[in-house]
Amino acid sequence: MTRRRRIYEGKAKVLFEGPEPGTLVQYFKDDATAFNNQKHGIITGKGVLNNRISEYLMTRLGEIGVPTHFVRRLNMREQLVREVEIIPIEVVVRNIAAGSLTRRFAIPEGTPLPRSIVEYYYKSDDLNDPMVAEEHITAFGWASPQDLDDMMSLALRVNDYLTGLFLGIGLKLVDFKLEFGRLWENDEMRIVVADEISPDNCRLWDVKTNEKLDKDRFRQDLGRVAEAYQEVARRLGILPEVGPTDVRGPVAIT
Ligand code: TMP
Repeated sequence: MTRRRRIYEGKAKVLFEGPEPGTLVQYFKDDATAFNNQKHGIITGKGVLNNRISEYLMTRLGEIGVPTHFVRRLNMREQLVREVEIIPIEVVVRNIAAGSLTRRFAIPEGTPLPRSIVEYYYKSDDLNDPMVAEEHITAFGWASPQDLDDMMSLALRVNDYLTGLFLGIGLKLVDFKLEFGRLWENDEMRIVVADEISPDNCRLWDVKTNEKLDKDRFRQDLGRVAEAYQEVARRLGILPEVGPTDVRGPVAIT
């Protein structure tokens, strides 16, 4: 890695100053954490896979008109992104009961939800990312009602699109988390999808067997964690071995 200014280091990624003003380089680490950093581990090759998977998904979203911070992949572990002002809210969309929802409401894991549910969490490691209502978000000034409206409708569009995309490769999109940023262009502000979309922040289950192919394998010590991330990349047709100039399309499951 060349020497350059480190802007921010998170649990799974590092942000460096980009080559031009208004850009950042997003570096994907192999580190994995769960339960707000109480559990830490290394998933060998995860950074390379998530860089590819997030590139692929953000590119597809861009093609259907969902604005994202993604510009282009630079190398195995880095991508160029637009510098945005991160909104300190994690937006979770759920289609099937899993994780904290099953604990909060005592709903068995795997229960299909009557409709997609959108939840908001305040990004704060100190507070352990508490769930918040729109009222808290607007009263405390984390986002305006208009920002929230944009975030909610983008999250639902992303859910609709990704549900179909994953179903086409034999995966159920159980739930996922998105982050959004404010992108300033001249005097205009747009809300765009930021951070990453990968098996670190999506739950993906095999359609036929319900096998978990995401970070729950790490959270729940299920083993074969790196293999699960590889399987997602393989089904998307983007395993790194294929090489940057030879990316195939998704592999249809019949
Ligand atoms: P949860 O069931 O633990 O609330 O998680 C819901 C979804 O959000 C799941 O796909 C994992 C993702 N997620 C993150 O990306 N980061 C987090 O810090 C948490 C708690 C969940």
